[in-house]
Amino acid sequence: MENKFVLNLDLGKDKINKNIYGHFAEHLGRCVYEGLWVGLDSEIPNTHGIRNDVLEALKELSIPVLRWPGGCFAEEYHWKDGVGPYEKRKRMVNANWGKVVENNHFGTHEFLTLCELLGCEPYININLGGGTVQEMQEWIEYITFDGESPMANWRKENGREKPWKLKYIGLGNENWGCGGNMRPEYYADEYRRYQTFVRNYQSTPIYKIACGASDYNTYWTEVLMREAGRFMDGLSLHYYTVPHTWEDKGSATDFNEDEWYLTLKKALAMDEIIQKHATIMDKYDPQKRVGLIVDEWGAWYNVEPGTNPGFLYQQNTLRDALVAGITLNILNSHCDRVHMANIAQLVNVLQSVILTDKEKMVKTPTYYVFKMYKAHMDATYIPAEVISVNKIDNIPQIHISASKNGAGDVNITICNLSADSEGQVHIDLRGEEKSKVTGEILTAQHINSRNTFENPREVETKEFNEAYIENGILKVALPAKSVARLTLG
Ligand code: AHR
Repeated sequence: MENKFVLNLDLGKDKINKNIYGHFAEHLGRCVYEGLWVGLDSEIPNTHGIRNDVLEALKELSIPVLRWPGGCFAEEYHWKDGVGPYEKRKRMVNANWGKVVENNHFGTHEFLTLCELLGCEPYININLGGGTVQEMQEWIEYITFDGESPMANWRKENGREKPWKLKYIGLGNENWGCGGNMRPEYYADEYRRYQTFVRNYQSTPIYKIACGASDYNTYWTEVLMREAGRFMDGLSLHYYTVPHTWEDKGSATDFNEDEWYLTLKKALAMDEIIQKHATIMDKYDPQKRVGLIVDEWGAWYNVEPGTNPGFLYQQNTLRDALVAGITLNILNSHCDRVHMANIAQLVNVLQSVILTDKEKMVKTPTYYVFKMYKAHMDATYIPAEVISVNKIDNIPQIHISASKNGAGDVNITICNLSADSEGQVHIDLRGEEKSKVTGEILTAQHINSRNTFENPREVETKEFNEAYIENGILKVALPAKSVARLTLG
């Protein structure tokens, strides 16, 4: 049976904030060290210590915003340990992630240089659980103040004359857990206190993000919105797609069709989770001023056999491309409330877009999804009406999202969740005439196909021609287990 949708091309009103396509880099495993930072003396070609191959690959994604330094790491991070001459930087224990030595070589200057090289906005998560208000204040002064002050002077001594632009800060991370095991009532008060001392030294005020809930914990959202909603610009939400249990999540590469569907079903749950939190936010903030910031999401499996359990290194298959495609479609559909999202994590940790092994690098299937989907950034969201859609195991076979960009081009991203059946898709295009379709597709032979260091191009996008428009209906024959982007001109 055909999967039928209607798109009213003239009825879009909300903008898909490009920050929904954001990323997250934590001092965890080989994300920052090895994945991004190799150091000034490395034999791996680099720019100011940041590896060139990864930089070039990431530039193609037009990353809008990058969150750093954690995660749980942020709640034990003391920024002053990470500035000044390298030989004097404190060597500390990364207590959350593998208890390895953190030499603090990648600190404030290095992170902000990375953001400048990528052309993205920095999103710094400050230490609320294990830090102090003074430490936070001084960090903001160090980064943003363009006058004479102890911190601005210190920044200049450390080689940076002009301040950086800092738009986003997060006040704590998972303060219900690794960030202090706080109750929402207590955290709401702490948030109110900390945010008071976020001083604006630049013309654009800093956008303040409060620590939000994870999964279905709507009580946290209720308390935060009620007690502190008026003091925040954003409230975070974390949701990870974990196929089985937290104790035994399942393998990233060795899974069967049942686990394929189970994983996709869990990815689809993002829709219901956002709806639940957004409903509470609507009660306190009907104008939708406060953004829901989904600053950690992605698939989380058991680590690759033989790797450090504290490093969260996992491979990335075609299944992850579907998780990314579905999730990004869902985030687009909530763009009236979701103002930013950050997949976890950028390189070598959880659902990464890039994997590295010494001097080698591969782009994962998830990378190609982000590359196809960037067409939605800052475009006007076009809601899709579902007329009829095939069900497999109670989940839809076809999942779509559409937007119209400033030039009038319509981009439609489509996922076929079926592991083995082609999907016939008919989309009734109303409100505007379109005649030309071009497209790209990501699929592969197996549900667990992946890119390895030996075979780095097993899964990559190809041109897609199985779509045409007839009498105002876009007709697509979408191969099983695929993610595609169609552009209508
Ligand atoms: O992304 C890995 C970890 O997951 C983060 O540090 C933490 O915030 C979350 O629990």
